[in-house]
Amino acid sequence: MSSVLKDKSILLGITGSIAAYKAAEIVRLLKRRGASVYPVMTQAATHFIHPLTLTSLAAQEASLDLFEMKRGRMEHLSLAQLADLVLIAPVTANVMGKIAHGIADDLLTTTVMATKVPIILAPAMDEGMYENAVVQANIRELKSRGMHLIGPEEGELASGEVGKGRMSEPPKIVDYAERILQSRGDFAGKLFMVTAGPTREALDKVRFISSYSSGKMGYALAEEGIDRGARIILISGPSPLIPPPQAEFYSVETALEMRKRVMEKFSAVDGVLMAAAVSDFRPKLVHKSKIKKNACTSLKLDLVQNPDILKELGRIKKDKLLVGFCAETSSLKEKAEEKLKEKNLDLIVANDITLEGAGFGVDTNIVLLMDRDGEVTSLDRRSKREVARKIWDKVKELMPA
Ligand code: CTP
Repeated sequence: MSSVLKDKSILLGITGSIAAYKAAEIVRLLKRRGASVYPVMTQAATHFIHPLTLTSLAAQEASLDLFEMKRGRMEHLSLAQLADLVLIAPVTANVMGKIAHGIADDLLTTTVMATKVPIILAPAMDEGMYENAVVQANIRELKSRGMHLIGPEEGELASGEVGKGRMSEPPKIVDYAERILQSRGDFAGKLFMVTAGPTREALDKVRFISSYSSGKMGYALAEEGIDRGARIILISGPSPLIPPPQAEFYSVETALEMRKRVMEKFSAVDGVLMAAAVSDFRPKLVHKSKIKKNACTSLKLDLVQNPDILKELGRIKKDKLLVGFCAETSSLKEKAEEKLKEKNLDLIVANDITLEGAGFGVDTNIVLLMDRDGEVTSLDRRSKREVARKIWDKVKELMPA
């Protein structure tokens, strides 16, 4: 069977780790599956493997120089443009740190900054370095920016010790690259709507009722969907986040505005991922001016219920795919099942907001996925981008053939 790597251009980054010698095998495996390989080395990498080795195996000159002109352009721009995938194996703690913080001081890191294609990192380092809090924070940052990490694994390290830090083996890395490229086309030709963020329900000219929702989960879903080939309509309540430029973006404020937009777009889409934290209630009356404290010693708010947008979609969905979310403080599974049925969903993503590292505002989430057949997947704490990845995997499984 032909590999998805066939005729693809892979930019293979090699950095200064003892595992750099394994890059030679990665080149061979990628070439065997039909890919063109463009090796890009850091200076430090040249201490561990000679550029000529990679040049010979790849049949492409290994590049190191940021200021060289090739293919009529600065090298980093032409490499960033021709690649279908960037794979850095091995990647050191140092280079991960640079990428995580936007430092681009050589050809490899500059190319990474200039590219829009998926990036895979295969870290290799000593266990002590791997466990360092800064390295771990950088790894989380890279993951939340949508980069794919494979390894490191437990095993024999260059120091002679056994521990975590060993780069994954080349065949595993190449299989992983194949999987990432495959998933790029998962949703080609499909149009999905994602809702995100809170809604705001005005009380008067200065105050509103809202929730702690930041929009992070919904925006991660939009970004991941785009990366996998879907066209995305993103409808968001107030959020400080920047919407992905490829999304058709609508900013809304209230639940009623969100409902209007959702309904307007619903007939065109293949599915909806309703990650917004829609306010269940709104003030019955919005004061035209500011409510003054001297006018009353206590204040009773008269609230009316907002329409349940997702429940309405559940009634008219036909074969469109509906994904709902539920934020709970107890009996997660039971409530998820209840909402899945009540709102006629294909999938519900439930989280217990009392857990540390889950819920509103934070970069990570701990969720339970329950599908329409009652199949449950529990995901431990991971970045919202990784949770998004799992949700889209599940959506793919549930899509009509
Ligand atoms: N939702 C919606 N419209 C609303 C309220 C919620 O579309 N007015 C959607 C949310 O976007 C989410 C799902 O319904 O995908 C579940 O929201 P949640 O607030 O957990 O549940 P509710 O149905 O509002 O029930 P409750 O507040 O009683 O837990």
